[in-house]
Amino acid sequence: MSDRTVRILRPDEQRKAWDLFRAALHVQPGTDEEWERVSAAYQAERSWGVFEPDLVGTTRSFESEMVVPGGKRLPLAAVTGVGVRAGRTRRGVLSALQAAQLGDLAERGVALALLHASEGAIYGRYGYGVTTLANQVVVKKHRAQLRPDVPAGGEVTVLGIDEAAPRWPELYAATATGHVGAMTRPEIYWPGFEGHLRRRAKLVQTAVHRGQDGTDGYVIYHVEEGAAHDSGKLQVVEFSYANPAAFAGLWRFLLSVDLVDEIVLAMRPLDEPHALLFTDPRTAKTESTEDESWLRLVDVPAALAARTYGPAEPVVIEVSDRSLPANDGRYLVGPDGASRTDAEPALRLSADTLSMLYFGTWRASALADTGRIEVLDPAAPEAADVLFGTRESVWCGTFF
Ligand SMILES: CC(C)(COP(=O)(O)OP(=O)(O)OC[C@H]1O[C@@H](n2cnc3c(N)ncnc32)[C@H](O)[C@@H]1OP(=O)(O)O)[C@@H](O)C(=O)NCCC(=O)NCCS
Repeated sequence: MSDRTVRILRPDEQRKAWDLFRAALHVQPGTDEEWERVSAAYQAERSWGVFEPDLVGTTRSFESEMVVPGGKRLPLAAVTGVGVRAGRTRRGVLSALQAAQLGDLAERGVALALLHASEGAIYGRYGYGVTTLANQVVVKKHRAQLRPDVPAGGEVTVLGIDEAAPRWPELYAATATGHVGAMTRPEIYWPGFEGHLRRRAKLVQTAVHRGQDGTDGYVIYHVEEGAAHDSGKLQVVEFSYANPAAFAGLWRFLLSVDLVDEIVLAMRPLDEPHALLFTDPRTAKTESTEDESWLRLVDVPAALAARTYGPAEPVVIEVSDRSLPANDGRYLVGPDGASRTDAEPALRLSADTLSMLYFGTWRASALADTGRIEVLDPAAPEAADVLFGTRESVWCGTFF
């Protein structure tokens, strides 16, 4: 389209972009008070608009870091606020935004981009792939009997939102950023998080756990009233712990909250051992498993070089990347690391499939079996399973 401009938003255009995004999600425009909180999250130079000549589409990102297998942290762009005005969809507006945003992130030296997708069919074409999965877990409180050998845990103190909110950044940094897939939350993240919770629930509580070495876990939750006084639903918003005793101690607390029938934990790691706490393991039911986050390797050589690999024969992979062709090429991946090579490839895959493989959430053999990876050496998928595999389920835990 000839009269289309894609550019960084000026600060005075950001609120219009926010309203456009909300309308794309079928939400009414925000209030002045809400905008005051949210505007802090609009980082200068990272909010994009498409003009025809009025604003018809938008996206933005904020700076963060993400832990990759082996423990290194890579620069991450947390991509959010994606929306195209109704009546202007399916004309290439999002594709224009993606081209501009990804090109800009590559120039800035950002290694990874991450987003939560509203629909599963949108982002694969831009090199994003489902990279973490998460469970919704429900515990019927009145059925729940902890096994006698579950650790005792420590003391729990419950704080209201005014007291707790200023402490969330420190609690999160101390208890929730050690696992693979965890992202740092910059200062600008928190006002939006707090505003969302204040709008969503009447009473938001934070239970802080204190173990032998000090504060080592917290749960943010609210209780929705049920039909009867004692049939409330306790919704866990965050559940972070630095050690198994804090995990057990926080569970003991959750089970002690009065007038609750059901405890619901959304978006939890696949291998989190809730069921192992109870005399009847069916007490903790996984109600659903969904894609949690979509990753994009913006700088493939840097991302591959940063993570560690399992013990297996090295494998040469050939990557094709339609949106960022600088990533095209062959990479030798082995227990000693990963680097560019001219050797013949054993596996061929596109950028979105590489994103699915990167954290080991999907096995290379499963990706090959379903046609996502072209196999040139039949021994390579099994070797790649071990190279890219991780000991624990990878999980992000931050919604944005
Ligand atoms: C999702 C959205 C941003 C797409 O914007 P858009 O400008 O219509 O996308 P484009 O026209 O650039 O589409 C590019 C391609 O993606 C496809 N596509 C876009 N949205 C799709 C969807 N929701 N489902 C399936 N395919 C989709 C298009 O058909 C097109 O395919 P093609 O290249 O084969 O022709 C827009 O529909 C929207 O704002 N939706 C509501 C809000 C939302 O879901 N935002 C995303 C939050 S994560």
